[in-house]
Amino acid sequence: MQKLNGKVAFITGGTKGIGFGIAQECLKNGINVAITGRDHENIRTALHLLNGEENDGVYAIGIEADVRNFEAMKEAGNQVIEEFGKIDIVIANAGLGYFAPVQELSIAQWNDTIDTNLTGVFFTLKATVDQLMKNQGYFITISSLAGTNFFANGSAYNASKFGVTGFTQAAMLDLRQYGVKVSTIMPGSVATQFNNHVPNEKDAWKIQQEDIGEIVIDLLKMNPRTLPSKIEVRPSMPSSN
Ligand SMILES: NC(=O)c1ccc[n+]([C@@H]2O[C@H](COP(=O)([O-])OP(=O)(O)OC[C@H]3O[C@@H](n4cnc5c(N)ncnc54)[C@H](OP(=O)(O)O)[C@@H]3O)[C@@H](O)[C@H]2O)c1
Repeated sequence: MQKLNGKVAFITGGTKGIGFGIAQECLKNGINVAITGRDHENIRTALHLLNGEENDGVYAIGIEADVRNFEAMKEAGNQVIEEFGKIDIVIANAGLGYFAPVQELSIAQWNDTIDTNLTGVFFTLKATVDQLMKNQGYFITISSLAGTNFFANGSAYNASKFGVTGFTQAAMLDLRQYGVKVSTIMPGSVATQFNNHVPNEKDAWKIQQEDIGEIVIDLLKMNPRTLPSKIEVRPSMPSSN
């Protein structure tokens, strides 16, 4: 089993939801964490929660950086190296969704979806790939079941997530030659604040954000000779609502 103590994880969109759940599980497992987000207050609140727990010598830092801006991502990567000396694990998680019939979808909504969910994933890798190659690291993207199953009102989101799934698999073939592991996790419904949802008791049937964190830890601990490169994950019971 791989030892995780002393590793450093860089998680985009770690202020809420799945990214936050991954940050919590990383800290519990002895991994220092850098989270990013666009909103200063969200970062402050998240750090308060993450660093308020008993983390046994490791801690989280927060960096205001928009995944749509490559220079900001490069600068964020530099800040992580300044703080922790290296980056071993990169989680390209930041994402959003606009859902509307294709004939009603605006150009601004299309661009924001592709720039954040797809180009943002490329920028995240581009800004950190030297570290991943140097440290034989692990790059994980958070795609979606929407990255393999299409649905009405999902044209922009489907396009972005099918893109992430394909991008990650191609990057995996390139980077495994250098000892870098690459996986994509494709969740179904997760109880988060995605699309302005407010998590509530009716979400009990859904995957919870820490469950995705546990999957990430399982991947990181796996024997390095084995690579689950594409992981579909769904609630075991569909909603009865
Ligand atoms: N929830 C689900 O059912 C589900 C299922 C499958 C896949 N996913 C995917 O999981 C990922 C995380 O979603 P979530 O459900 O955890 O949503 P969430 O609760 O809305 O969290 C999204 C996170 O991304 C950050 N973010 C958004 N745009 C950003 C940008 N341009 N630059 C940097 N950070 C940005 C947000 O922070 P700020 O707003 O402060 O910037 C927040 O931390 C997304 O890629 C989503 O597509 C979600």
